[in-house]
Amino acid sequence: MKLGVFDSGIGGEAVAIALRETFPDAQIDTVNDREHIPYGDKTPSQVREFTEIAIRPFLDDSYDVIILACNTATAIAIDYLRRTYPNQKFIGIEPMIKTAATLTKTGTIAVCATPRTLASNRYKKLVSTYGAHLDIIEPDCSNWAYLIENNQLNRLEIEATISQLCTRGADVIVLGCTHYHWIKSLISELADGRAVVIEPSEAIGRRVVQLLEPSSKVV
Ligand code: DGL
Repeated sequence: MKLGVFDSGIGGEAVAIALRETFPDAQIDTVNDREHIPYGDKTPSQVREFTEIAIRPFLDDSYDVIILACNTATAIAIDYLRRTYPNQKFIGIEPMIKTAATLTKTGTIAVCATPRTLASNRYKKLVSTYGAHLDIIEPDCSNWAYLIENNQLNRLEIEATISQLCTRGADVIVLGCTHYHWIKSLISELADGRAVVIEPSEAIGRRVVQLLEPSSKVV
Protein backbone atom coordinates (compact mmCIF):
# COMPACT_ATOMS: atom_id res chain seq x y z
CA MET A 1 0.00 0.00 0.00
CA LYS A 2 1.23 3.46 -0.89
CA LEU A 3 -0.13 6.54 0.88
CA GLY A 4 0.66 10.18 0.20
CA VAL A 5 0.24 12.55 3.13
CA PHE A 6 0.04 16.30 2.61
CA ASP A 7 -0.06 19.28 4.96
CA SER A 8 1.15 22.85 4.69
CA GLY A 9 3.80 21.93 7.28
CA ILE A 10 4.58 19.65 10.22
CA GLY A 11 0.96 18.70 10.87
CA GLY A 12 1.35 16.11 8.14
CA GLU A 13 4.27 14.53 9.96
CA ALA A 14 2.12 14.07 13.07
CA VAL A 15 -0.51 12.27 11.00
CA ALA A 16 2.11 10.23 9.13
CA ILE A 17 3.61 8.99 12.42
CA ALA A 18 0.21 7.68 13.49
CA LEU A 19 -0.36 6.07 10.07
CA ARG A 20 3.05 4.37 10.15
CA GLU A 21 2.11 2.78 13.46
CA THR A 22 -1.16 1.53 12.01
CA PHE A 23 0.36 0.39 8.68
CA PRO A 24 4.00 -0.58 9.37
CA ASP A 25 4.40 -2.24 5.96
CA ALA A 26 2.97 0.60 3.90
CA GLN A 27 4.98 3.15 1.97
CA ILE A 28 3.94 6.47 3.48
CA ASP A 29 5.33 9.56 1.79
CA THR A 30 4.82 13.14 2.91
CA VAL A 31 4.91 16.48 1.14
CA ASN A 32 4.40 19.94 2.57
CA ASP A 33 4.34 23.54 1.42
CA ARG A 34 6.49 25.43 3.91
CA GLU A 35 6.89 28.26 1.43
CA HIS A 36 3.24 29.24 1.90
CA ILE A 37 2.58 28.33 5.51
CA PRO A 38 0.28 29.25 7.20
CA TYR A 39 -2.63 28.31 4.97
CA GLY A 40 -5.04 29.47 7.67
CA ASP A 41 -4.81 33.13 6.66
CA LYS A 42 -4.80 32.60 2.89
CA THR A 43 -7.75 33.13 0.54
CA PRO A 44 -9.73 30.08 -0.60
CA SER A 45 -8.33 30.32 -4.13
CA GLN A 46 -4.76 30.47 -2.79
CA VAL A 47 -5.35 27.42 -0.57
CA ARG A 48 -6.82 25.51 -3.53
CA GLU A 49 -3.97 26.45 -5.85
CA PHE A 50 -1.18 25.85 -3.33
CA THR A 51 -2.64 22.49 -2.33
CA GLU A 52 -2.97 21.26 -5.89
CA ILE A 53 0.62 22.26 -6.70
CA ALA A 54 2.01 20.75 -3.50
CA ILE A 55 0.39 17.34 -4.02
CA ARG A 56 1.59 17.07 -7.64
CA PRO A 57 4.25 14.48 -6.73
CA PHE A 58 1.37 12.24 -5.59
CA LEU A 59 -0.74 12.67 -8.73
CA ASP A 60 1.05 10.05 -10.84
CA ASP A 61 -1.59 7.32 -10.29
CA SER A 62 0.75 5.31 -8.07
CA TYR A 63 -0.76 6.32 -4.71
CA ASP A 64 -3.63 4.25 -3.32
CA VAL A 65 -4.82 7.20 -1.29
CA ILE A 66 -3.80 10.82 -0.94
CA ILE A 67 -4.50 12.09 2.57
CA LEU A 68 -5.02 15.81 3.00
CA ALA A 69 -3.68 15.87 6.55
CA CYS A 70 -4.73 19.50 6.75
CA ASN A 71 -8.13 20.67 7.91
CA THR A 72 -7.72 23.93 6.01
CA ALA A 73 -6.88 22.27 2.68
CA THR A 74 -9.70 19.75 3.18
CA ALA A 75 -12.23 22.49 3.91
CA ILE A 76 -11.31 24.45 0.82
CA ALA A 77 -9.87 22.05 -1.75
CA ILE A 78 -11.08 18.47 -1.33
CA ASP A 79 -14.28 18.83 -3.37
CA TYR A 80 -12.33 20.49 -6.18
CA LEU A 81 -9.61 17.80 -6.09
CA ARG A 82 -12.14 14.95 -6.18
CA ARG A 83 -13.84 16.55 -9.19
CA THR A 84 -10.56 17.24 -10.97
CA TYR A 85 -8.92 13.84 -10.30
CA PRO A 86 -11.89 11.45 -10.26
CA ASN A 87 -9.74 8.31 -10.43
CA GLN A 88 -7.68 9.26 -7.40
CA LYS A 89 -8.88 8.42 -3.89
CA PHE A 90 -8.63 11.24 -1.34
CA ILE A 91 -9.18 11.31 2.40
CA GLY A 92 -9.58 14.62 4.18
CA ILE A 93 -9.48 15.71 7.79
CA GLU A 94 -12.24 17.69 9.45
CA PRO A 95 -12.90 18.92 12.98
CA MET A 96 -14.55 16.08 14.95
CA ILE A 97 -17.79 17.88 15.77
CA LYS A 98 -19.83 14.67 15.51
CA THR A 99 -17.64 12.82 18.02
CA ALA A 100 -17.54 15.85 20.32
CA ALA A 101 -21.34 15.98 20.28
CA THR A 102 -21.50 12.39 21.55
CA LEU A 103 -18.87 13.00 24.25
CA THR A 104 -19.92 16.32 25.78
CA LYS A 105 -21.90 16.34 28.99
CA THR A 106 -22.02 20.11 29.42
CA GLY A 107 -23.22 20.79 25.86
CA THR A 108 -20.28 23.17 25.43
CA ILE A 109 -17.35 22.24 23.21
CA ALA A 110 -14.37 24.13 21.82
CA VAL A 111 -13.05 23.89 18.29
CA CYS A 112 -9.45 25.01 17.81
CA ALA A 113 -8.87 25.56 14.10
CA THR A 114 -7.51 28.06 11.59
CA PRO A 115 -9.58 31.10 10.57
CA ARG A 116 -9.93 29.68 7.03
CA THR A 117 -11.31 26.38 8.31
CA LEU A 118 -13.77 28.10 10.65
CA ALA A 119 -15.02 30.36 7.84
CA SER A 120 -15.51 27.50 5.37
CA ASN A 121 -18.84 26.15 4.16
CA ARG A 122 -17.76 22.59 4.93
CA TYR A 123 -17.16 23.52 8.57
CA LYS A 124 -20.46 25.41 8.80
CA LYS A 125 -22.25 22.36 7.41
CA LEU A 126 -20.58 20.11 10.00
CA VAL A 127 -21.77 22.44 12.75
CA SER A 128 -25.33 22.64 11.46
CA THR A 129 -25.52 18.86 10.96
CA TYR A 130 -23.98 17.65 14.21
CA GLY A 131 -23.57 20.60 16.54
CA ALA A 132 -26.61 22.85 16.11
CA HIS A 133 -27.69 22.08 19.69
CA LEU A 134 -24.25 22.78 21.16
CA ASP A 135 -22.55 25.89 22.44
CA ILE A 136 -19.40 25.89 20.31
CA ILE A 137 -16.50 28.11 21.35
CA GLU A 138 -14.03 28.93 18.58
CA PRO A 139 -11.03 30.54 20.29
CA ASP A 140 -8.58 32.66 18.35
CA CYS A 141 -5.82 30.21 17.41
CA SER A 142 -4.77 32.17 14.34
CA ASN A 143 -1.06 32.21 15.18
CA TRP A 144 -0.75 28.70 16.64
CA ALA A 145 0.20 26.90 13.41
CA TYR A 146 2.92 29.43 12.70
CA LEU A 147 4.27 29.22 16.26
CA ILE A 148 4.25 25.44 16.26
CA GLU A 149 5.83 25.26 12.81
CA ASN A 150 8.62 27.55 13.92
CA ASN A 151 9.03 26.04 17.36
CA GLN A 152 8.08 29.34 19.01
CA LEU A 153 5.16 28.04 20.96
CA ASN A 154 4.04 30.47 23.62
CA ARG A 155 2.96 28.19 26.43
CA LEU A 156 1.42 31.07 28.39
CA GLU A 157 -0.84 32.06 25.52
CA ILE A 158 -2.02 28.48 25.06
CA GLU A 159 -2.56 28.22 28.80
CA ALA A 160 -4.70 31.37 28.85
CA THR A 161 -6.82 30.06 25.97
CA ILE A 162 -7.34 26.60 27.43
CA SER A 163 -8.17 27.90 30.86
CA GLN A 164 -10.79 30.27 29.37
CA LEU A 165 -12.36 27.38 27.46
CA CYS A 166 -12.59 25.26 30.59
CA THR A 167 -13.96 28.15 32.64
CA ARG A 168 -16.70 28.62 30.05
CA GLY A 169 -17.66 24.96 30.49
CA ALA A 170 -16.13 23.30 27.45
CA ASP A 171 -15.60 19.64 28.31
CA VAL A 172 -14.41 18.57 24.85
CA ILE A 173 -11.65 20.35 22.96
CA VAL A 174 -11.53 19.48 19.26
CA LEU A 175 -8.15 19.89 17.57
CA GLY A 176 -9.19 21.09 14.12
CA CYS A 177 -5.68 21.71 12.78
CA THR A 178 -3.07 19.00 12.46
CA HIS A 179 -0.32 21.30 13.73
CA TYR A 180 -2.04 21.20 17.12
CA HIS A 181 -1.59 17.41 17.29
CA TRP A 182 1.96 18.21 18.37
CA ILE A 183 0.67 20.00 21.47
CA LYS A 184 -2.15 17.60 22.30
CA SER A 185 -0.51 16.44 25.52
CA LEU A 186 0.22 20.03 26.57
CA ILE A 187 -3.42 20.97 25.97
CA SER A 188 -4.60 17.90 27.91
CA GLU A 189 -2.25 18.80 30.75
CA LEU A 190 -3.53 22.40 30.82
CA ALA A 191 -7.16 21.22 30.73
CA ASP A 192 -6.25 19.18 33.81
CA GLY A 193 -9.12 16.71 33.63
CA ARG A 194 -11.76 19.37 32.89
CA ALA A 195 -11.93 18.56 29.16
CA VAL A 196 -10.99 15.72 26.83
CA VAL A 197 -8.91 16.58 23.80
CA ILE A 198 -9.73 14.83 20.52
CA GLU A 199 -8.15 14.63 17.07
CA PRO A 200 -8.70 12.24 14.17
CA SER A 201 -5.36 10.39 13.68
CA GLU A 202 -6.82 6.97 14.54
CA ALA A 203 -9.96 7.59 12.53
CA ILE A 204 -7.87 8.28 9.42
CA GLY A 205 -6.32 4.80 9.64
CA ARG A 206 -9.80 3.27 9.87
CA ARG A 207 -10.94 5.33 6.90
CA VAL A 208 -7.97 4.10 4.82
CA VAL A 209 -8.97 0.49 5.51
CA GLN A 210 -12.58 1.24 4.70
CA LEU A 211 -11.70 2.95 1.43
CA LEU A 212 -9.27 0.28 0.21
CA GLU A 213 -11.18 -2.74 1.47
CA PRO A 214 -14.82 -1.75 1.22
CA SER A 215 -15.97 -5.20 2.38
CA SER A 216 -13.98 -5.02 5.64
CA LYS A 217 -15.78 -4.30 8.85
CA VAL A 218 -14.53 -1.03 10.25
CA VAL A 219 -14.76 -0.71 14.00
N1 DGL B 1 -2.19 22.00 9.61
C1 DGL B 1 -3.17 22.76 8.89
C2 DGL B 1 -4.58 22.35 9.28
O1 DGL B 1 -4.80 21.22 9.68
C3 DGL B 1 -3.10 24.25 8.86
C4 DGL B 1 -1.89 25.01 9.18
C5 DGL B 1 -1.79 26.28 8.38
O2 DGL B 1 -2.44 27.29 8.73
O3 DGL B 1 -1.07 26.21 7.39
O4 DGL B 1 -5.50 23.14 9.17
